[in-house]
Amino acid sequence: MAEQEIKQETKAGKAYLVGAGPGRADLITVRGLKLLKQAEVVMYDRLIPQELLQEARPEAEMIFVGKGPDRHVMEQEEITQLLVEQVRAGKQVVRLKGGDPLVFGRGGEEVLALAEAGLAYEIVPGISSALAGPAYAGIPVTHRGMVTSFAVVTGHEDPHKPESTTDWAALAQVPTLVMLMAAKNIARIRGELLAAGRAGETPAAAISWATTDRQQVVRTTLDKLPADIAAHKLPTPMIVVLGDVVTLHDKLAWFKPDGGAGGFVPYEAVEGSQ
Ligand SMILES: C[S@@+](CC[C@H](N)C(=O)[O-])C[C@H]1O[C@@H](n2cnc3c(N)ncnc32)[C@H](O)[C@@H]1O
Repeated sequence: MAEQEIKQETKAGKAYLVGAGPGRADLITVRGLKLLKQAEVVMYDRLIPQELLQEARPEAEMIFVGKGPDRHVMEQEEITQLLVEQVRAGKQVVRLKGGDPLVFGRGGEEVLALAEAGLAYEIVPGISSALAGPAYAGIPVTHRGMVTSFAVVTGHEDPHKPESTTDWAALAQVPTLVMLMAAKNIARIRGELLAAGRAGETPAAAISWATTDRQQVVRTTLDKLPADIAAHKLPTPMIVVLGDVVTLHDKLAWFKPDGGAGGFVPYEAVEGSQ
């Protein structure tokens, strides 16, 4: 057997869980981009900037494993299994995930499987939409003299389901509440927060396609949140921010999406996105 083949056979594989950032392609980290350029296999999700895929080597194997809100190309178990198999086969695999890989991205499950299989991995954090979304809407999640804490919560769980583990009554007390995946259940979430004593006039904002050229911000109140999201036909992906810091948007809304004219490459609609 030729020496090169032996090397190939014994080469140790490794997985890199890379955060692709919140949407705008150049918000990936320097390390994430470097690893993407070197990868032999790229397994990528739906909510990643599609332009980033062009950064991979032409010979890299590109595997779309996207999960839509209502449609899965692959189930999580299959994705995890495939990742383990590729690394076991000696491949350098970049697992590219939207935002930060460990913020509601099921990245923890994937690294657990790699760890249990005794395989090498590295986690490359990314800029989460939970922080970048508010920032691109001119909303600091903390602000001296106004707010000293914030929470990030998924709104994916139906608050009325008996198995819901989200303590909305406790979250109602948090000064700045950032909600991901909350669009579908927003009316129910509003109800829970109001019932727990959060004021109806609490400033609120819904940010759609944050950091991209399709970004839209609806500035409203907790009371009017579901109606205003519906009235503006605000598309997903969407982040909702609640709290006094939202009033800063009125002064700090610095980002003006320009339709791609003078800015960056627009974020393309990808298969399965809404
Ligand atoms: C499965 S979670 C993954 C979050 C991701 N790991 C992160 O750190 O941003 C997907 C949700 O993130 C939010 N999201 C991601 N990218 C977004 C963007 N560019 N604009 C608004 N919301 C976004 C939406 O709430 C979406 O439903």
